[in-house]
Amino acid sequence: MHSTETERVFRPAAGSRYAVLLGIGAYRPRRIVTNEEVCRTLDSTPDWIVRRSGIRNRCFAGSDETLVEMGATAAGKALAEAGLAPADVDQILVATMSDLEGADRLAARIAGRLGTGARGLQVSAACSGFTVGLALAASAVTSGAVRTCLVIGVERMSDIVDPRDRGTAFLFSDGAGAALVAGAAEPGIGPVVWGTEPELADAITVRPEPENGGRPYLRMRGASVFRWAVTNLPSVASAALERSGLAPGDIQAFVPHQANLRIIESVAESLGLPGSVAVARDIVDQGNASAASIPLALDRMRTSGALRSGDLALLIGFGAGLSYAATVIRIP
Ligand code: UT7
Repeated sequence: MHSTETERVFRPAAGSRYAVLLGIGAYRPRRIVTNEEVCRTLDSTPDWIVRRSGIRNRCFAGSDETLVEMGATAAGKALAEAGLAPADVDQILVATMSDLEGADRLAARIAGRLGTGARGLQVSAACSGFTVGLALAASAVTSGAVRTCLVIGVERMSDIVDPRDRGTAFLFSDGAGAALVAGAAEPGIGPVVWGTEPELADAITVRPEPENGGRPYLRMRGASVFRWAVTNLPSVASAALERSGLAPGDIQAFVPHQANLRIIESVAESLGLPGSVAVARDIVDQGNASAASIPLALDRMRTSGALRSGDLALLIGFGAGLSYAATVIRIP
């Protein structure tokens, strides 16, 4: 193909030099599980759980709150806020670590449930999946590959957590969040800073276990992940701010993956965020919803009035892989 012809065919739509979020939606499962309830099965105490993780409650999905239903509900809300119809969606990226079917079937089923013919793909980046998905969506719309992309983080971590595992059973939870990404003339998703940490590739695993009837359980070397996070996340988050040309005082919110309240507080302090920056603490009543944690936290901050349209929020996801990704977004 001749180069001028290539340029004509592959040029993004006019006014799509940048990517923006046009809508955000979330789905929080109905059932709230207290620390007291968790400790009926787990060898732990509610006081220990609060002290070491900050978690007081978490949401667990019921049998009718499937990955498809939760993902499609969150996506429908993001679409409604964007003022778009399912037929306007060109691509769906579904970030999840608790779908055990694979081969993009979940993405296809969510597309079917929404009633869109959009191409559906899965992002396998565990707890960093939503932020990784936003970066992939941004490059897809700015390249002209698609006009719009739904990014959905959806998890049923309660399906893959061993209720007797002292290192994980009290941490993880279920839920969904979504964002509609489209092209725009002004930037709304900043450059991404992302990577993987090969030395911690086995720090979080999901593998079939004979004792679980051959079904998988998540296992985690929590202290190693904790140490890595408090040591490395501040420089990754700072780099994302710098690449967007921003200082800590220029943003209105810091929304890290909701893994542990002690990690959240430590990274916020290391970043030197001024008191004017709201810090997401959704973990206290939601637990760690993996790929859904950041959009769920964004949703709570918007509902409570801590975040308003036009505000800038610094997102940073990290988790199994070990995979991490940080970017700044403008709230729709
Ligand atoms: O979303 C993916 C990313 N994940 C993360 O970022 C998770 C990061 N890690 C963590 O959040 C923390 O490591 C945990 C909350 C998972 C665990 O907290 P910790 O402070 O690192 O606990 P630990 O494993 O170092 O154990 C400390 C002590 C030990 O007792 P000794 O040896 O000091 O006497 C454990 O036996 O706490 C004990 N312990 C518990 N006690 C009561 C470990 N788990 C429990 C428990 N209840 N559930």
